[in-house]
Amino acid sequence: MADAATDAMAAVSLSDDLEPATSRTSIRSILANGAARAGERVVVGGWVKTGREQGKGSFAFLELNDGSCVANLQVLVDAAVHPLARLTTTGTSVLVEGELKKPPEGTKQCVELRVDRVLEVGEVDSAAYPLPKTKLTLENLRDVVHLRSRTNTIGAVARIRHQLAYATHRFFDENGFLYVHTPIITTSDCEGAGEMFQVTTLFSHAEKVEKELKENPAPSESDIEAASIAVKEKGDVVAQLKVAKASKHEITAAVAQLKVAKEYVSKLDERSKLKPGIPRRDDGTVAYENDFFKRQAFLTVSGQLQVETYACALSSVYTFGPTFRAENSHTSRHLAEFWMVEPEIAFANLQDDMNCAERYVQYLCKWLLEHCREDMEFMAKNYDKTAIERLTLVSSTPFERISYTKAVELLKNVTGKKFEKKVEWGIDLASEHERYLTEVIFKKPVIVYNYPKEIKAFYMRLNDDQMTVAAMDVLVPKVGELVGGSQREERLDVLKARILDAGLPLEPYEWYLDLRRFGTVKHSGFGLGFERMILFATGLENIRDVIPFPRYPGRADL
Ligand code: 4AD
Ligand code: MG
Repeated sequence: MADAATDAMAAVSLSDDLEPATSRTSIRSILANGAARAGERVVVGGWVKTGREQGKGSFAFLELNDGSCVANLQVLVDAAVHPLARLTTTGTSVLVEGELKKPPEGTKQCVELRVDRVLEVGEVDSAAYPLPKTKLTLENLRDVVHLRSRTNTIGAVARIRHQLAYATHRFFDENGFLYVHTPIITTSDCEGAGEMFQVTTLFSHAEKVEKELKENPAPSESDIEAASIAVKEKGDVVAQLKVAKASKHEITAAVAQLKVAKEYVSKLDERSKLKPGIPRRDDGTVAYENDFFKRQAFLTVSGQLQVETYACALSSVYTFGPTFRAENSHTSRHLAEFWMVEPEIAFANLQDDMNCAERYVQYLCKWLLEHCREDMEFMAKNYDKTAIERLTLVSSTPFERISYTKAVELLKNVTGKKFEKKVEWGIDLASEHERYLTEVIFKKPVIVYNYPKEIKAFYMRLNDDQMTVAAMDVLVPKVGELVGGSQREERLDVLKARILDAGLPLEPYEWYLDLRRFGTVKHSGFGLGFERMILFATGLENIRDVIPFPRYPGRADL
């Protein structure tokens, strides 16, 4: 019995009713070992970068890329193996099997693949393919966001992005932080800046009702009256039958008819209440109690407030997720949807916060130098000669730390340059000021701290001078503001006053105030703009090219 069962299991695990699994070897692993793998049989899949027939059409060379690394594998196919014209068009996908060989002396490849079986081909009509062999600009590539991942640049960015995300989790894990998933749909405005996208079903619901009513108009009052009369008549019939002591069968049938008539009236009644448009209260305001969450809801601008609830229990936590801002910014540093890494640390002050931010950014730079060398070299060669130097410098140099007051003083004394926005104590530093500080004055990352309270969010801790808050921004060359953070206001009365001063209502923040009512704790945190970090690392100029699917005013493809 046991043997029969074991045999049956073995049969299942062999899955002989399915096509055999594909054991594909990545081009990265082949090229990493180079000539040492010569003689090995492998299956390789990828997309043809360039293909050319040679030897009067007797064989073809394909430059194959599978996205595992920047480099291509040279693949050689004989005309006897497959019709060559079907393989050589740029963009064609192939899955091929063959033997790795050491190419003839003097060629630049260390290993090539001689194909003896073409397993699968996905052909391309070259006239219609939107990615020509000649390079498209990054700007043009944004019009083919669904295909641009096939290009060397977007592929390199994707690998760098992946490594930065991986390094982020490693850094926080190594330092005892817990990863907390904060909500994407929220009912609190973290920054209090009113730049939130609303989440509502009121519009789609209203459209559905309008369409419904057009096809099937709401009943008029006279329809309802007629149906009500019918109910009364059916009721009378039942009453009369009962008085006349009619048969049970007759009474039951009449009661059933009455029930149908009543249901019809209540249906009409219900439909008569359907009104086109957004539901409104008597005072004209939108009746959000009819919305999906029975209140106004938004896409989050930051997971900070929610992650604070976990910091005030689990001490060291972080969140890493998408955040959304409905600001009408068309700059090369802003997106409407971007990813943010937000650690939050209990029993930590502003200095602890700065130390964490500095160590984290340095860790990321070092990680890329050690784990993403080829992609970084590609970026340095094609986009920014200083990219690797910059990572090396940042990973090994302590960041400058200066107060906002000092930063303003330094900027006011600048003589060689005229800023578009005049520098004065109290202004929100603009990108031009931030970049001047980090690129020209200090030539390294700068942490500016203690900003005027008027230009910062309500949750930042008020300093003893009553004029500034314990905020800090990390500014880096090429990008400007990379990190924004602060020590949080842990004093209940001060926090309440700050919320009200900011012109915000207390009610939605009551839960946040509870964290101060019950076992309040000194705590700090920051947010690192993940795409800004990728810009900084790669040296690319536009943030729209470092996120797979950029969203900005007027644009949300796919
Ligand atoms: O300075 P911000 O607005 O800070 C916060 O949201 C805090 N709640 C974070 C915290 O303390 N937990 O945003 C943090 C960072 C900025 O420094 C910037 O790098 C990035 O997020 N950022 C953007 N990145 C791309 N597009 C935008 N529209 C961005 N707005 C902010
Ligand atoms: Mg900021």
